[in-house]
Amino acid sequence: MKAAGTTPLGAAGEEQTSRWVREMFDGVARRYDVLNHLLSFNLDKRWRARTVRRLRPILSRPDSRVLDLCCGTGDMLIAMEQEAQRKLYGSDFCHPMLTAAREKLGARQMRSQVVEGDALRLAFRDGTFDLVTVAFGVRNFANYAKGFGEIRRVLKPGGTFAILEFSHPPNPLIRWGNNVYCNKLLPVVGGLISGSRKAYSYLPSSVSKFPDAGQLSQILRDSGFQQVTYQHMTFGVVALHLARKA
Ligand SMILES: C[S@@+](CC[C@H](N)C(=O)[O-])C[C@H]1O[C@@H](n2cnc3c(N)ncnc32)[C@H](O)[C@@H]1O
Repeated sequence: MKAAGTTPLGAAGEEQTSRWVREMFDGVARRYDVLNHLLSFNLDKRWRARTVRRLRPILSRPDSRVLDLCCGTGDMLIAMEQEAQRKLYGSDFCHPMLTAAREKLGARQMRSQVVEGDALRLAFRDGTFDLVTVAFGVRNFANYAKGFGEIRRVLKPGGTFAILEFSHPPNPLIRWGNNVYCNKLLPVVGGLISGSRKAYSYLPSSVSKFPDAGQLSQILRDSGFQQVTYQHMTFGVVALHLARKA
């Protein structure tokens, strides 16, 4: 079994780890979108679009309350509002990422709102949401189970938790190619454009330490979720996990 949470080099304990992650995203917020699209060859947009299609039955219900946790610069939130056509909520603990999200939501005259907060200590009441999504955020939790416990708490009974996250391609050849790309090329290009080699070295190391889809499913079940399923995308480079609160 892999680590219980992310373990960036030079950070010890949950508090320090969370601070390390927040400061790292502070440093790349301005270039985050450009790099995200560039380094994923725009596949990130397709991964979010597929996730939104999968969540359409919940998003299209006019009374469903939706929270996009770790919303960053707001791409998942924007994609979901485009489907739902109403106000949704986003949350993240990195102020510069939220500033970018607010600018993007404003420029598109969207209704969704974002608030600052830590996913491991959510400021929402129990049973508030029908759907909580986290796109490329869970991997950065200092403690996965603690985050999942909080998400379960703020979901209504019967509510859905959706995780879109990097995973481990089952095919050895594709896994090898993906590892070479992530470990060799990505830190160099990401480091040059963002000015933070640290951030783009952390990315592949956080992915390699992250549980595979089967292990993550087990952590979700251990955290009290039911009907846990996943589907790989792009040969397993990414996985979409769905889980329900009983
Ligand atoms: C890789 S970005 C993903 C952003 C966005 N969801 C997307 O799809 O592009 C990860 C985001 O998770 C946020 N994050 C990581 N750990 C968090 C935590 N414990 N609480 C709140 N936000 C967190 C970071 O600040 C960052 O904005």
